[in-house]
Parts: sequence; structure tokens; C-alpha cells
Amino acid sequence: MKMTLNINGTERSVDAAEDIPLLWLLRDELQLTGTKYGCGIAQCGACTVLIDGKASRACMVRAKSAQGKTITTIEANQSAEGQAVTAVWDATNVHQCGYCQSGQVMAATALLMKNPNPDDKAIDQAMSGVICRCGTYERVRRGIKQAAEQLKRNAQAAPGGSHDV
Ligand code: FES
Ligand code: FES
Repeated sequence: MKMTLNINGTERSVDAAEDIPLLWLLRDELQLTGTKYGCGIAQCGACTVLIDGKASRACMVRAKSAQGKTITTIEANQSAEGQAVTAVWDATNVHQCGYCQSGQVMAATALLMKNPNPDDKAIDQAMSGVICRCGTYERVRRGIKQAAEQLKRNAQAAPGGSHDV
């Protein structure tokens, strides 16, 4: 089946099995291997991408049903929130083995897009579905808070931004 998807800002046309999950289309057809396969049954979150800005499990989404939507993967996570999360992750070494981390970064990005100032409860709720066998949860939580702080500073520094007195 021919399908066209908007992935990372570009229309990509592929000819693939009608029922192909988005995860395999990304990885096998488009070589976007930053999105990881962990379980294939919606249990681990390693495959998290953004679909229309919402954290979504690419292993559970039929690629054909994502036509007409905007898909963002870790390779192009360039929103202000995505950049802030990535910068903090790099600067503070949130990752350990790294396998779960593209899912962590995408879920954290989606959270900050929806809630720029999440408390521990909101973070735990948003991130609970992204499993880390290395136990980086505390660093992930700290990283999200630091990214939120950075976004706040960026907004205050922007022309017309609000300034504390
Ligand atoms: S691979 Fe999709 S949730 Fe585990
Ligand atoms: S960093 Fe190893 S699984 Fe999360």
C-alpha cells in the first residue's frame, strides 16, 4: 500500500504493508532508528514519538492511520521544549545504557509542551509508561525540572518576555 506521512517536517511516501506499525515504517523503511523497539505491546515506551505533539507509542500505531498527522521523532526533536530537554540530557548525563532514552526525551518533550511547569506528580504521571531498566528515573525527573527552568529563562530573555523584578 502506498502511503504518505509527514515525518519530521517532510512528506515521505512509502510503499509498505497495509498493517505496518509506524515503528517499523520509521525504522525499516525510513532508517529512522533513533526510535527504539522494546516490547512491541505498549508496555515500555521505548518507541515513543510525537504525533500531533502528543506522546504516542509507535509500536501500537498503524502507519496508515498516521497519514495527515504530524510525526516527530528523536532525530528532529527541535521544538523549544525538545531542544531544552536534549540540552539538559546531554549536559547532565541523564542516560545510562541509553536504550530507553529516546522514549524518555520524547515523553518529556510532550509533557513540557503541555505543561511548562510540571510538579513531581505530573512528571510521574507523564513518564510512568517509559520504563528504564537502568533506573534513571530520578535523573529523568531532575532533567525535566531543569529543562522547564531553562525554558522559563529563555522566555524571560526573549524580546517582550516577562522579567522578574
Ligand atoms: S516498543 Fe512500543 S511500548 Fe514498548
Ligand atoms: S538508560 Fe538504560 S534502559 Fe534506560
